[in-house]
Amino acid sequence: MYTPVPALITKEEIEERILKIGKQITADYAGQSYLRVIGALRGSFVFMADLIRAIEMPVKVDFMEISSYGKAMVSSGNIKILKDLTDDPHGENVIIAEDIVDTGLTLQSMIDLLKSRGVLSLEVAALLVKPNNVAQHNKLKYPVKYKAFEISDEFVVGVGLDYKGFMRNLPYIAQVTDANQLKLFDEA
Ligand code: IMP
Repeated sequence: MYTPVPALITKEEIEERILKIGKQITADYAGQSYLRVIGALRGSFVFMADLIRAIEMPVKVDFMEISSYGKAMVSSGNIKILKDLTDDPHGENVIIAEDIVDTGLTLQSMIDLLKSRGVLSLEVAALLVKPNNVAQHNKLKYPVKYKAFEISDEFVVGVGLDYKGFMRNLPYIAQVTDANQLKLFDEA
């Protein structure tokens, strides 16, 4: 059984914010021939699909999946590339599309990697940011220029974000508090 969970951020609010960010990006990169949007897998694919359709200029996409070796690790050198880029981003204007910035470790690792590959410019677009956690962990040394929503430190699902691999297809952001629902996912 897949019982509905109440929305923390509605589908309409998300659509509206992403459209605004798309307009801002379109204005900021006016005059450039194209933009490269790189999605951080797996969670970013839903946000990214909406974001690129809100950008009114030529866009190319690519994807990267990295895993930090445990969130307790201090060094961003301790990361594993699970899926590398298909194209070389050297000399490109790149925007990273990130689902959620929690401690910021994953994002900072991706930023370091992309910078080392000679991108021309680099910005970050994130659906959600947990500013308290980012500040507390002090891992992220780069601004998130295009931020859709800030949330507190709660664990959320939907719009690409998962709990044990599930709930990515929920079309809004929610907190799953129903113990029975969580149990179903735990046992699946
Ligand atoms: P960070 O490296 O601590 O910023 O973690 C980022 C990654 O942790 C995200 O890309 C998500 O995969 C996962 N994550 C962090 N917070 C949440 C959450 O509230 N819901 C689902 N996944 C989360």
